[in-house]
Amino acid sequence: MVEQDFIPKYNYKLTIESGKFTWQSPSNIALVKYWGKKEHQIPENPSISFTLNTCKTTTTLKFEKKEVPTELFSFDVFLDGKKQDDFKPKIETFFKRIESYLPFLKEYHFVIETSNSFPHSSGIASSASGMSALALCLMSIEKLLIESDVTSSAVEAFYNEEYFNKKASFLSRLGSGSACRSIEGDLIVWGIHKDIERSSNLFGIKYPYQVHNNFKNYQDTILLVDKGEKKVSSTVGHNLMHDHPFAQQRFEQANNNISKLIEVFKTGNLKSFIEIVESEALTLHAMMMTSLPYFILMKPNTLKIINAIWSFRNQTGLHICFTLDAGANVHVLYPENDTEQVLKFIQNELVAHCQNAHYICDRIGFGAKQNL
Ligand code: DP6
Repeated sequence: MVEQDFIPKYNYKLTIESGKFTWQSPSNIALVKYWGKKEHQIPENPSISFTLNTCKTTTTLKFEKKEVPTELFSFDVFLDGKKQDDFKPKIETFFKRIESYLPFLKEYHFVIETSNSFPHSSGIASSASGMSALALCLMSIEKLLIESDVTSSAVEAFYNEEYFNKKASFLSRLGSGSACRSIEGDLIVWGIHKDIERSSNLFGIKYPYQVHNNFKNYQDTILLVDKGEKKVSSTVGHNLMHDHPFAQQRFEQANNNISKLIEVFKTGNLKSFIEIVESEALTLHAMMMTSLPYFILMKPNTLKIINAIWSFRNQTGLHICFTLDAGANVHVLYPENDTEQVLKFIQNELVAHCQNAHYICDRIGFGAKQNL
């Protein structure tokens, strides 16, 4: 599919005056990271992620037809019931990027009410769950507009669940790249990869090949090392890959790591899984440390946790590993079978390095998005 396939070939009848939709959408954690993008939110390399189950955003989108149509987007945003004007520029940019795909946007005033199951800007990707929840609400409006028009039966036939999800992912990407991986569970690929059929730069797809039982119900305990606002936004970080001395090697490495993961998912080789996932996390941060300007998002406690995980793994032989996002927090990944021992270790040795002893137990979800 190409961009044009997401432009409606149908003139909405706009007979709906007002309404509201609520969607819940999960966060995701990348195993092979997206870091570096071209224009129009096209990734420099493919990425692959586990969809999470507990970390999610719930968004209600209320819409009301403007009395007089204007040339401006009109919306208010609330986080946990509080007006959040600092979210507006990001949403304004999102609306501008998706306007041609949802031509009703300027016809309505929107109220966006959102809440997260985890702290905002904690390094847990709230932009992924937030933008995907908003995109899903917008898709529900589009669907309603189409369905409300009795003359639209031909369009309806095309407008099935598969198209709904694809377009929701496509729109989410234009809000935040990683958000396109939050629409469907449980293992999602975004970005063209030579070995993955139907992979696309425009939206995420479900990983289409065999996945060994070792990865079923894989656990992710997120250790909140630093709950402060991010010092460097992902968008700034992505842009620093443009003149980065190691950019091309990095993009190649990500492609190779996905090829290796295909084999790992088939055979269940946890040792190789750990090697790929930890190397990806450290490479992501190495890219930050070697860009100009350079920056470090890890904190001393991030390193203490990494070292403790390595010693514990050496001592016990358990298949525990870590990954990182663009922040100081650590995602501790482990198979379901090891849950009891790993949780004991986390409580005894790692929680002390978390801010206010805060951590969140999560696991891979199977398409946790939900229309409420
Ligand atoms: C480090 O998706 O937040 O989490 O497209 O600019 O919104 P934008 O970036 P974003 O970048 C996420 C980067 C990452 C790695 C990943 O999730 O793949």
